[in-house]
Amino acid sequence: MNEKAIRRSLVSHAPLRRKPATMLRRMLDWLPEDTELYGDDAPTARLERRLAELLGKPRALFFPSGTMAQQTVLRIHAERTGRRAFVAHPLNHLDLWEERGYAAVHGLRFVAAGERHSLLTLDDLVAVGERPAALLIELPQRELGGLLPTWDDLVAQVGWARTQGAAAHLDGARIWEAQPYYDRPHAEIAGLFDTVYVSLYKGLEGIRGAVLAGPADVIAEAEIWRRRLGGAIPDAWPLAVAGLIGLDTMVERQAAFRDHAVAVAAALTADGVATVRPDPPLTPMFHVHLPVSPAAAGQASEDMLTERGVQLFLRAQTDPLPDRCKFEVSIGENGMDFTPDEVAALVRELVTRAEKDG
Ligand SMILES: Cc1ncc(COP(=O)(O)O)c(C=O)c1O
Repeated sequence: MNEKAIRRSLVSHAPLRRKPATMLRRMLDWLPEDTELYGDDAPTARLERRLAELLGKPRALFFPSGTMAQQTVLRIHAERTGRRAFVAHPLNHLDLWEERGYAAVHGLRFVAAGERHSLLTLDDLVAVGERPAALLIELPQRELGGLLPTWDDLVAQVGWARTQGAAAHLDGARIWEAQPYYDRPHAEIAGLFDTVYVSLYKGLEGIRGAVLAGPADVIAEAEIWRRRLGGAIPDAWPLAVAGLIGLDTMVERQAAFRDHAVAVAAALTADGVATVRPDPPLTPMFHVHLPVSPAAAGQASEDMLTERGVQLFLRAQTDPLPDRCKFEVSIGENGMDFTPDEVAALVRELVTRAEKDG
């Protein structure tokens, strides 16, 4: 992909990559001249305290990545319960995108519950038939276009974990995006779970990094594992500063991002060229399904980028049907720059190009 050609992008992540000067200026403006970079007043320690409070947990700990944070905490839950399995939806991030580090590095076993294309249900969990170390729930479910269970379903599912003597862990990479749907404080959502991980660079639009929150003794153990795994980096402060800026500025905007996502999805549905899932979106995130192959959509997207400087997505994903594909929309600061009708017109143009060339 030609990053230099991008003038406008619907893709929200990693503003440092796309607008480095804006991001660095924001960080400079935020950072007082006499900032301590190490110790109790350092940005990393402040971020950890702030997230422990916001998530209603005794302690929170910075990790360089969610990948490291979640594998670590699942290992701790396994060692404490003397069980090796964790239960999660078939399309969870750990199994799909982390080269199965939970098994390769930590000797854990993944037990899939439920159907690939629907949300987990209590019945799916009851059908599991073994007592796991932990239940992992992802809110919202990225691979399902940001679907969310109702609050009552969530409570019932976590209740199942308790009856099994299992820990409940929240993959809250996008808890910021999920919170307006539940309309409950972050601490109440996180409070259902024993441990929670949040991302500093998705909805918060920071640089990278993650925070794991939970009981003090669990986090103390996680700190030892973070060192063992090479994640105890003393100079994480730029990531922490970007995360703190995200907490100051992006958390409160998620409801507006969700509303814009709903409007964009409605414009796409009205146009008819694409199918939106879920419709309406529950979060700033949703999927757009196109009646063209991934290769044709990818080529059309590259051409539009080169000719017009407009980027609709990073990747056109495959669909079970070869002449269809889908892409993820996640409305953030970048996405607010596009009117709903404009997105619908761009998607129509993309499909027209793909049909002609494909
Ligand atoms: C739902 C979910 N969980 C975990 C992760 C892992 O986060 P990281 O990229 O910080 O390792 C991601 C990253 O995309 C994610 O989407």
